[in-house]
Amino acid sequence: MSDTASFSSRVSTSVARELVVAVTGLGLIVFILGHLVGNMLIFAGPEALNGYAEKLASLGELLWVLRLGLITFAVLHIGLAAHLTWANWSKRTSRYAVTAAVGRKSVASQLMIYSGIIILCFFFFHLWDFTFGTKTGPGTVVPLMGGQEELGLFGLVWNSFANPLRAACYIVAVCCVGLHLSHAIASVWVTLGVLTHRATDKADAVAWTIGVVVALGFASIPIYVLVRTYIIGQGA
Ligand code: HEM
Repeated sequence: MSDTASFSSRVSTSVARELVVAVTGLGLIVFILGHLVGNMLIFAGPEALNGYAEKLASLGELLWVLRLGLITFAVLHIGLAAHLTWANWSKRTSRYAVTAAVGRKSVASQLMIYSGIIILCFFFFHLWDFTFGTKTGPGTVVPLMGGQEELGLFGLVWNSFANPLRAACYIVAVCCVGLHLSHAIASVWVTLGVLTHRATDKADAVAWTIGVVVALGFASIPIYVLVRTYIIGQGA
C-alpha cells in the first residue's frame, strides 16, 4: 500500500471509530435520561419505586436483551474512546507543532477521560450497591418511616444515601456524569457533521442545559434523603 493510501485508510478508520463512539454515546445518554426519570419515583414513595422495579424485572428475557445492548454499547464506547484518547496523546508527543486550538481541545478531552474514569468506577460501585444489594431484611428497614416494615429496593436506596459519605460519593459521581454528558452532546453534532456552525452554538447551550439537569436531577435524590434524615425528620 502507498503512503497516501495507508494515510487515507488510517483517517477513515479513525473517523469510523469516532462515529461509533458518538452513536454508542447517544444510546447511553438515552439510557441515562430514562434511568433519571424512573429514579424520580423515589419522591413518590416506596410503592412507586418498588412497583417500577418489579415492572422492569417482569420484562424477563426482553430486559436481558436490553441489558446486553447496554453492555455492548458501553464496552464499544469506552474501548474506542480510550483508544482515540491514547492515539491523541501519542500524537501530542510527536515532533509536530501543537496549535492553540489543539491545546484547547486537549483540555476538554482530558476532562472527558478523567470524568469517564470516575463514571466507570462509580458504575461498578453502583451495581454492587443497588443491583446486587440485598433487597430484603434489616438493611431495607428505614427508621424514619416507622422502622418496622421492610421497604425493598426503596429501603436499600434510602439507607445507602442516609450515609453522608456514600451520598457525597454519589453526588460527585453524578456531577461527573453531567459534565461528561454536556461535553459529549456538544461534540457529538460536530462528529456526526449534522449541524451548521451557527446551529452548533445553540446546540452547545442545549448540551450544557441537559448536563446540568442530569447532574441536579440525580443529585437531588441523595440530597433529599440527607435532608429528610438529618434536617427535616419524620414529620415531612
Ligand atoms: C442518584 C443517582 C442514582 C440512583 C438513585 C440510581 C438508582 C438505581 C437503582 C435503584 C438501580 C437498581 C434497579 C434494580 O435492581 O431494579 C440502578 C441500577 C442501575 N443504574 Fe442507577 N441510579 C443512579 C445513578 C445512575 C447513573 C448516573 C448511572 C449511569 C452512569 C446509572 C446506571 C445504572 C445501571 C447501568 C444500572 C443497572 C440496570 C440493570 O440492572 O438493568 N445509575 N440504579
